[in-house]
Amino acid sequence: MKLKIIYATSPKQKPQDESRLGFGDIFSDHMFVMKYEEEKGWYDPCIKPYEDIVLDPAAMVLHYAQAIFEGLKAYRREDGGINLFRPWENFKRFNRSARRMCMPEIDEQFVMECMKKLILIDKDWVPKNKGTSLYIRPFMFATEPHLGVRPSKSYLFLIITGPVGAYYKEGMNPVKIYVEDQYVRAAPGGTGDVKTGGNYAASLFSSEMAKKKGFTQVLWLDAIEHKYVEEVGTMNVFFVIEDELVTSPLTGSILPGITRDSVIHIAKDWGIKVTERRISIDEVIESAQNGKLKEAFGTGTAAVISPIGQITYKGKSYSINNGKMGTLSKRLYDEIVGIQYGYKKDPYGWIERVC
Ligand code: COI
Repeated sequence: MKLKIIYATSPKQKPQDESRLGFGDIFSDHMFVMKYEEEKGWYDPCIKPYEDIVLDPAAMVLHYAQAIFEGLKAYRREDGGINLFRPWENFKRFNRSARRMCMPEIDEQFVMECMKKLILIDKDWVPKNKGTSLYIRPFMFATEPHLGVRPSKSYLFLIITGPVGAYYKEGMNPVKIYVEDQYVRAAPGGTGDVKTGGNYAASLFSSEMAKKKGFTQVLWLDAIEHKYVEEVGTMNVFFVIEDELVTSPLTGSILPGITRDSVIHIAKDWGIKVTERRISIDEVIESAQNGKLKEAFGTGTAAVISPIGQITYKGKSYSINNGKMGTLSKRLYDEIVGIQYGYKKDPYGWIERVC
C-alpha cells in the first residue's frame, strides 16, 4: 500500500505555555486515516490535515459500539530526538482487541511506519518541557450503515496526536480513591482485557459518583464476589505489602497494561519480590490498618505511575504512606520516565526512535 500525504496549508497555533498542558484537548496538525471494506481489505492510507469525519447516522459504531483504541506517547529527548516506548506492544494489543471485537486486524509493520511518518511531520508538536509528551491515539471503528446486530463490513482506522502534560490535575501527588463495591468495570468472559470504548463508558457512572464525593478515581473489584481488587480508574493497580509488590493477575477482566508489564520487569530486575496474585480488598484494608501496606499506585500510559494516598471503603478512609508518594513508586517512576526520555539506559530494548 502506498501512503499518500497531504500537508496542512494553515498550521494551527501550538500551545504557548507547555507548563499548562493538560490531557487530551489539543490536537496536532495532521492525522492518519485508512479505510477498510470486507471485499477490498485495507486501502487508501493517508496522512492529511486534522479534520472532521463524516459518518452515516446508521454507522454501526454509533449503535453497537464496535470501537477499539490504543494510547502511547512520543517523548522528546534532550538531544532533540524523539522516542517511542514499547510501541510494538500497543499494536499487538490493538490486534488482540480487534480479534475480540470481530474487527479486521492491521498490518503492525505498515501502521508503525505510517505512525512514525505522522510524528515526523508533526515533530514540532512534541513538547519539550519536563513531564510533557505527544500523546498518540490509534483507533478503529465500524462505519457500515446498518442496524442489524452483527460485525460491520467496513471500518476506519485513524491515528491522531496531541501534546499532553499530566493526566490527573494532582500530577504526581497521591490521589484519593473510592472502593466501588456495587458497580463493576468488567466481568470474566467480557471485554475487560481489551481496549474497547465500551469498557470506559461502563466505568463513567461510578467514577462520576466518586468524583462528586471528592475522590479522584474508583478502585474496581471483581464482578463475581466484589471482593478482589482489579484495577484503579483506567489503570492497573499495585500494592507494596511489607516487602512484596503485589498486582492482580491477568484473569481476563483486567487490561494487560504495558506500564504494568514494565513495572513488573524492572522491579524483578531490582530483586524485589513481585507477585501477580488475587488480592482481596479485606487484605488491603487489613494491611493498611496494621501498617503493612507501605505504598499503592496505579500504572498506565497516560499517568505512568499514579500514587494512591488514601483509600475509602464502606465509609471509612485509610491513609497510605501518610498520603505521600512512596519510595518504590518514585524509584519506578524515575526509572520508567528516564528510559522513555532517554536519560537512563534502556537495557530491555524498549525504545524505538522516531528520529
Ligand atoms: C492509560 O492510562 O494508558 C489509559 O488508557 C487512559 C486513557 C484511557 C486516557
